[in-house]
This record gives sequence, structure tokens and C-alpha cells, in this order.
Amino acid sequence: MPTTINPLRYPGAKRQLVPYISRLLESNNLLGSTFYEPYAGSAVVGLELLQKGLINKLILVEKDVLIYSFWKCVFSCAEELCNRIEETSIDIKTWITLKPLRDVKNPHDSNLLDLGFAGLFFNRTNFSGILKANPIGGINQDSSYKIDCRFNKPLLIALIKKLAQLKDRVEIHWDDAINFMNKIKSNFLKEKSFVYFDPPYYSKGEKLYRHFYSSVDHESLANFVRHSKHYDWLISYDDAPYICGLYSGIGAKYCPFYLDYSVSKKQRSTGKELLISNLPLPPVNIYKKLIINN
Ligand SMILES: C[S@@+](CC[C@H](N)C(=O)[O-])C[C@H]1O[C@@H](n2cnc3c(N)ncnc32)[C@H](O)[C@@H]1O
Repeated sequence: MPTTINPLRYPGAKRQLVPYISRLLESNNLLGSTFYEPYAGSAVVGLELLQKGLINKLILVEKDVLIYSFWKCVFSCAEELCNRIEETSIDIKTWITLKPLRDVKNPHDSNLLDLGFAGLFFNRTNFSGILKANPIGGINQDSSYKIDCRFNKPLLIALIKKLAQLKDRVEIHWDDAINFMNKIKSNFLKEKSFVYFDPPYYSKGEKLYRHFYSSVDHESLANFVRHSKHYDWLISYDDAPYICGLYSGIGAKYCPFYLDYSVSKKQRSTGKELLISNLPLPPVNIYKKLIINN
């Protein structure tokens, strides 16, 4: 059985937290909630909870045009996306042809399928899944690792088709996380909801994502959360004194955890991160850790 359950190999993906978040929902009577992931990325947490039947609906928000478009294709035109995967050569010529799509600023300015395929393509052919990075093996392809070494077409097609079956229970929005959350405030009063914020890392965000946060943005998120009274929430962050300072004083609970992340396989390392929530947080290490290698 492959351990891969998500088509994206996403920097900072939080699959290791799925067992913990499942238990958190269970112990706070939040099973069956509408689950919000306003910084979607690979959306691995929400999608896995949905597949396990632990949440009722998943609302995703992502600011990156290519990642948003990829998920939009999965949940609105999966068949066409899979055909495109089948038909396209995974080589440096395609990488160069698709490169201008990295500059598209608005998903409505271009063809959704082109953008969605480009999102998957760059995620799976670039170093460490970083959309703004260079291709695996370099532009000259003179390394023993080639551009297609992480692009298993049959596996990706199977994963996408499986996820597409969830389309009636997933919404994906191209938006700024806080802007979106401000717009939909009244929904929280109508349904049982839980929000999982996984913002760009404080210290490495700029290297990993095309959209990252300055100190002012991290402060805006903390201020937004401070005034979030109508739902329960969890935030994951890298463990920086600056971030702890932002959340102290709002009655939040903290819990450290260790994430095995593989920016590259050779440099696999463990990073100390933080969970912050309005809910009581049990220690993370009581749950089995998953090592992801996709
Ligand atoms: C730490 S990653 C999320 C990883 C995700 N939880 C996972 O498991 O794959 C942060 C994500 O937020 C996105 N992002 C950055 N700024 C954003 C913003 N202002 N609004 C919404 N998404 C944003 C980035 O593009 C990136 O995909």
C-alpha cells in the first residue's frame, strides 16, 4: 500500500497531525463539523478527515493561483486534469513551456485547466515541491535525479480520481485567508465549525511559498484570532519567540510538537513547532507519528 494519499508534495504539509486533530475534534464534540483550512496548501489534514468521515464539509482557501487552480480542477474537472496528466511529457521542455504560468496573478486571467495542471507539474517537478524553485536535476538535467522522478502518473491519476469523489463536500476559494474569514463570519453561527489555521512559517515562509507573511501579517492573524468567538480554532506555527509573544495574553493554550520534514531527503530533520488553540491541548507525542515519503 503506498503511503501517499495526497497528490501534492507540499512544503510544511501537516499530515502527521491528522491523528492528533481527529482526537481533538472527538474530545471536544466537534466530529461532523464544517472544517475550515484558510491556508490550504496540500489540504492534507482536511481531506484526510473528510475521507475518514470525521468532518462533514471542508472549506479551503488558498492565495496561490496555481495551488488554488489545481484544487479547483480536482473538484470541478478531474477527468480533464487526468487526461492532461496522461498526455503531457514530464520533461524540461514542458517545464519551460509552463513557466510563464507562474506569473499569472489572477486565476480568471487564464485557462483553469492550464493553471491547475501547472500547479501540479511544478509541485512535483521542482526541488522540494517549491513552486518558485528550479526543476529537480536542474535546467540542464545533468544530475542523476531527473525532472520526472517524483511524477508517478498512474498514482497521481488514481489519487486525483479518488479525491474528486468528495467534490460535493469540498469548497475551494481563491482568497486571502483573513479576508475570507471576515466575509463568512455569520456562517459560524449556523453550523458546528472548526478552523485550522496553518499560516506560512514565520522563519522559513519566504523560501517555501510564493505568498508568505511579514511580521505585520502575523500580527493581523493574531488579532483576527483574538476576536474569533464563534468557533473553535487551532493554529500550527514554527516555534519562534515572536509568535509566542503574539498569542500570549489571549487565553490560548500552547503545545509543542515535532514535525519530520524533508526539505530534501538527505537533510531530513525534525523541527520544533507549536500548536496554539482556544481548546485544551493534550501532548502531541502520545500519538503515533507518521513519516511521509512521497
Ligand atoms: C504552511 S502552508 C499550509 C500547508 C498545509 N496545511 C498542508 O498541510 O499542506 C501555508 C499556505 O498558505 C498559503 N498562503 C500564504 N499566504 C496566504 C494568504 N494570505 N491567504 C491564504 N493562503 C495563503 C501558502 O501559499 C501555503 O500554501
